[in-house]
Amino acid sequence: MAKDSFRTHHGMVDILPGESEQWQAIEKIIHETAREFHFREIRTPVLEPTELIARGIGQLTDIVSKEMFTFSRGEDNYVLRPECTAPVARAYIQHHLDQRGGTQKLYYIGPMFRAERPQKGRQRQFHQFGAELIGSDAPAADAEIIAFMARIYEKAGIRNTTLKLNSVGDPESRKAYKEALQHYFRPKLSHLSEISQQRFETNPMRILDSKEEEDQPFIAGAPLITDYLNEECLDHYAGVKERLGLLGISYTEDPRLVRGLDYYTKTAFELVSPDLGSQDALGGGGRYDLLIEEIGGRPTPAVGFASGMERFLIACDALGITPGADPIPDVYIVTRGEEAEKWGLKTLKSLRATGIAATMDFAGRSVKAQMKDANREQARYCIIVGEEELNQGRFTLRNMIESDEQMLTPDEIITRLMPPVQLL
Ligand code: HAM
Repeated sequence: MAKDSFRTHHGMVDILPGESEQWQAIEKIIHETAREFHFREIRTPVLEPTELIARGIGQLTDIVSKEMFTFSRGEDNYVLRPECTAPVARAYIQHHLDQRGGTQKLYYIGPMFRAERPQKGRQRQFHQFGAELIGSDAPAADAEIIAFMARIYEKAGIRNTTLKLNSVGDPESRKAYKEALQHYFRPKLSHLSEISQQRFETNPMRILDSKEEEDQPFIAGAPLITDYLNEECLDHYAGVKERLGLLGISYTEDPRLVRGLDYYTKTAFELVSPDLGSQDALGGGGRYDLLIEEIGGRPTPAVGFASGMERFLIACDALGITPGADPIPDVYIVTRGEEAEKWGLKTLKSLRATGIAATMDFAGRSVKAQMKDANREQARYCIIVGEEELNQGRFTLRNMIESDEQMLTPDEIITRLMPPVQLL
């Protein structure tokens, strides 16, 4: 009689040849972008002390109260890490990374484990890439983290995303806000879902995160955290928004955005995609100025994000993008005449130095043939250059997707192409 065969556990997935090439392509984008932003890689163990995760993420969170894979061996309690922020913070303290000077800009890619109910975009073993900027409370640090995250998706061609932004305040602001929420929800308590009734006592802010139908009308009328932020939190939030504006990163303020982990202070954000269904967050993060002290370090402000690899691939698939297949140039330089060709060659060098993928014709073909080639290569932009443009010092930048043209100087062209992010 045939023996029973084995299958993976529910929510655990094999990545097969044909898929692994796509994973590698995304990983390559992450490593390249990290190099451009000067984040350095950190690799921490998959098993961590259970107490670190419980204290770091918060006893009352879903992750700690019901989704951890744990076991004991001898005296020691092990947990399969459900996320990597607390582990990175632990490593920062354990190895005295603060003594390396400046702020630490760290990133990671790896498997995480949560015993959630599996569905599309939600697995029990999944993979995250993320980054932590430790040692700065400046709004510029929040902007740097968000820019890094957004740039990775932009490079992969995922542009139909929305960045949701909020400030969840500090303990002082939050105390006032929690009281206001309890005051508001108390008379409605019997109409709320069971889970929201539980959260009413433990963490009323998480009621705002409820997906239950019956809670929605009450959530819609609930007080907003932004009305309870103290001056320091408001200033910080304004500073973050100003810097995102400077970087050309669009965002939608969502005063009801709360995150499922307890360590957040001030900035909280999520990058959502319309292509993911009910699990619509590609990634999320925020500031956690109290975590490092909470797990035994000196008070150290920090901010970070993490994103799901599986959801990244779902979004690619929905948009018809195959990571790693047929790389697309950002720019194709179309030249008319020998002087233009020489200018083109020099300009390729400057564009590539700023990380822009660029190419041109190397066979002296007609302008018409070059435009056809640019279309075939699916270039996002063309720069068109001939004698007249060289004399004027201004060149045509043609957006090949929207078919519009502008006359710009080389510096203007680079600035136009460079902004790392243009999210919807
Ligand atoms: P998180 O929101 O719990 O944050 O997870 C970040 C991302 O990981 C989610 O947006 C999602 O893409 C992916 N993810 C989470 N759970 C699953 C799952 N069960 N299956 C598939 N994908 C999943 C954190 O983990 C924080 N550590 C982020 C952070 C870093 N905050 C500050 N620094």
